[in-house]
Amino acid sequence: MKEIAIDELSIGVCLSKDIYNDLGNIILAQGTEISSRHLEYFRNHGIQYVYVDEDFISKPEEKGVRLQASSKYRELNSNYAAVLQHFKGLYFQVQNKDFKLDIKEMEDDIKPLVDTLLSDNDILGSMRLLSFHESYHFTHAVNVSMLGAMLGKWLGLNRQMIYSIALAGLLHDIGKTQIPEEILLKKGRLSFPELEMVRSHAKLGYDLLKDNPAIPRDVLAAILFHHERSDGSGYPSGLKEEQTPYLARIISVVDVFDAITSDRFYKQKVSSFKAFNIIKDESFRGLDPQISDVFMSNIASYFINNRVKLSDGRVGEVVYVNKFALNRPLIRVGEQFIDLSSDYSLDIEEVLPPQH
Ligand SMILES: [Fe+2]
Repeated sequence: MKEIAIDELSIGVCLSKDIYNDLGNIILAQGTEISSRHLEYFRNHGIQYVYVDEDFISKPEEKGVRLQASSKYRELNSNYAAVLQHFKGLYFQVQNKDFKLDIKEMEDDIKPLVDTLLSDNDILGSMRLLSFHESYHFTHAVNVSMLGAMLGKWLGLNRQMIYSIALAGLLHDIGKTQIPEEILLKKGRLSFPELEMVRSHAKLGYDLLKDNPAIPRDVLAAILFHHERSDGSGYPSGLKEEQTPYLARIISVVDVFDAITSDRFYKQKVSSFKAFNIIKDESFRGLDPQISDVFMSNIASYFINNRVKLSDGRVGEVVYVNKFALNRPLIRVGEQFIDLSSDYSLDIEEVLPPQH
């Protein structure tokens, strides 16, 4: 990472540190590729120096950067596919009650995925491009694993702990293998006994794995307690926040986020911005507010420069995310700026994939 004067900055290099305004809000996120519009913005706003990746300074041609980005994406894609396949195999074996979970083998697949993830500045951009037509059971497990690892990084945890979060994310719902598919896939409202059965997955997952000495104890605890809520309304034990293990609280936040932003069979997926509202409500109800704050503010900063579709059908670009209203950023549509934090007549319907 190197501090560089704006006048020496080339188009196509990537920021290695977020840029904040005087109010402490992120105006450009780490990983943003500098365009001529950004240079103009820096000059107009008196920003004289920014931090960029040194790797990019020696080869700032836009082509080189793009090549590097696409090989990073290929690496991510193949690492994601390896973990997905491994997990899928395990899921069926557990379902048939004929399994021997080799944690070392699973970690050997997870570690390269986590390492790619942690070295990438625009991982969410790459993640949005990943498209595996697989059952929700499988993609949700890998997504929770990846999002959990990222959140671990943002919380400043060490690499070993991040690997544990990734493993817990992958295995957190393994108890669902023991619940009949017709209940898991049921579209209508669940009866009380059915709901109880679905809720038993946390304990079932714990019971399946507890005798395996290779599984770290904090991973087991995260599997058992990932549906606890700080007000005591969760399950299986109704633990309060301070009683719930830290890893379980991390998994809860990313589990809720992925569940509501995934395209599930029984409801339409919601945009990440709408998910912020739901998580905010949930944090009143019991997600750890400190952990969910770190998660949401980091996720939000990734959306700066992203194209979004508004509820009136217009397409715009996120130019600014206010940390006090993460779900309602400033949008530029053509020459017009729409501040969603004060204009409640519009919503973000969808975050669109980047244009290449
Ligand atoms: Fe769960």
